Amino acid sequence: MIVSGSRTQSLAAALAAETDHELAGVSFDRFPDGEGIVRVQTDSAPEHAIVVASTVSDRAHVEVLQLQDAVREDGADRVTTVLPYMGYARQDDAFEPGQPVSARAVARAISTGTDRVLTVEPHEQSVCEQFTVPATPVDAAGRLATGLSATDPLVVAPDAGAADLAQAVCKAHGAGECVSFEKRRYSGADVEVEATVGLEGETAVSGRPVVLVDDIVATGSTMREAATLLLDRGAASVTVACVHPLLAQNAYLKLRRAGVDRVLGTDTIERPVSTVSVAPAVAAAL
Ligand code: R5P
Repeated sequence: MIVSGSRTQSLAAALAAETDHELAGVSFDRFPDGEGIVRVQTDSAPEHAIVVASTVSDRAHVEVLQLQDAVREDGADRVTTVLPYMGYARQDDAFEPGQPVSARAVARAISTGTDRVLTVEPHEQSVCEQFTVPATPVDAAGRLATGLSATDPLVVAPDAGAADLAQAVCKAHGAGECVSFEKRRYSGADVEVEATVGLEGETAVSGRPVVLVDDIVATGSTMREAATLLLDRGAASVTVACVHPLLAQNAYLKLRRAGVDRVLGTDTIERPVSTVSVAPAVAAAL
């Protein structure tokens, strides 16, 4: 039985269709003091409950714990938790004295209510080691590539951390060349992107469609800087492709105003740009 979080309903339904599992009814309410409450509606105790919920907010983190607890309370023998997007995964270290390793803290909490975790394209695969139950990263590069149409694009990773994903998307697309830029981040939304590779010859940018690939678009600053650089060098068009379209604040406007033609994302986070489903990749990993 697939049990959806409030923010991952499209993906949960797609996964139920893909795997032939029942899609549970779930209601999401709030008490007057602001606390959330969920109710999973089932006719009989599920043998295997698959909770599908992206932890895009603090509330969503609590909701996952509530869903896990509700299905156990209902008698589920086995619980698998799918985190299409795992929030706090970027806080995978104590960057300053006194800070927590937030990824570890949330991973431990989520582990208490499940037998297994799947998480789609986590920021660093090593985050899976923070769970105290078996945790598997799900590769979404092949799914993201299905949303691309350019016949001979230059595929660009805006920073070194996105290099492997961009290579994998380029390979799955089956056309084009791939290069990686370098990024310096000065604050949450203040970044500088530098083209550390030549953009001539095979990796020519002038007159060519470009696909910028990253795991997450949050404030959009990284992609805006990279897109501006590429358009200044004569790129014919720029598509921004990401697995997790967080698109915080005015990120979408920022990108379009910078000249980005299209933003493509997957349904790990439900946004208007989430036109590619990772359901087949999750189903294969279940
Ligand atoms: C971090 O390294 C991630 O891979 C992304 O590059 C980052 O989350 C993008 O953030 P923003 O959209 O705020 O520049």
